[in-house]
Amino acid sequence: MATLRAIHDDITRLALDAIVNAANSSLLGGGGVDGAIHRAAGPDLVRECRLLGGCRTGEAKITDGYRLPARKIIHTVGPVWRGGMHGEPGLLASCYRNSLRLAQVHELCSVAFPCISTGVYGYPAEAAAAIAVAAVRDALKEPGQVEQVVFCCYSAGDLAIYERLL
Ligand code: AR6
Repeated sequence: MATLRAIHDDITRLALDAIVNAANSSLLGGGGVDGAIHRAAGPDLVRECRLLGGCRTGEAKITDGYRLPARKIIHTVGPVWRGGMHGEPGLLASCYRNSLRLAQVHELCSVAFPCISTGVYGYPAEAAAAIAVAAVRDALKEPGQVEQVVFCCYSAGDLAIYERLL
């Protein structure tokens, strides 16, 4: 059974098999964690991203990690919060599920997630964390080699939310 844990850190510093990026559908970079990942990975990342043809909300695509300590980057696009009645919970769960599916396909053992959609996209942090933990637990019921899932929180407040849930 895989272990789930929460930490307070900058996701660009983690030397895991993969880190997940909370991207936008262009996959060409942006602010928040996306901007930090592109800056840390270097310009070859956007070159590879240009070949991917974007990514729909709830789906995920994978690239090399370039200058990051992580080997791979899984890019997923979270939903923009529009009050919660526009499919946001299902789309957010899909981000976690599809990211872990890609990790399994690429035989990656350790994966870190940021708090997808809870920054610029405005998803309430507590609700998003509950979906993240439930979706990851559910996805890990399938057989596979993922051993370690890390919820990488950028604030002490987010870490407290995850520690309560785990
Ligand atoms: N390490 C870990 N978490 C981080 C880091 C970091 N270095 N930097 C920020 N966070 P956001 P979204 C946290 O806005 O809401 C971008 O412009 C942050 O505190 O990065 O999914 C994209 O291009 C928050 O908890 O992503 C899209 O246009 C979490 O990461 C849009 O923002 C997510 O915040 C996506 O919005």
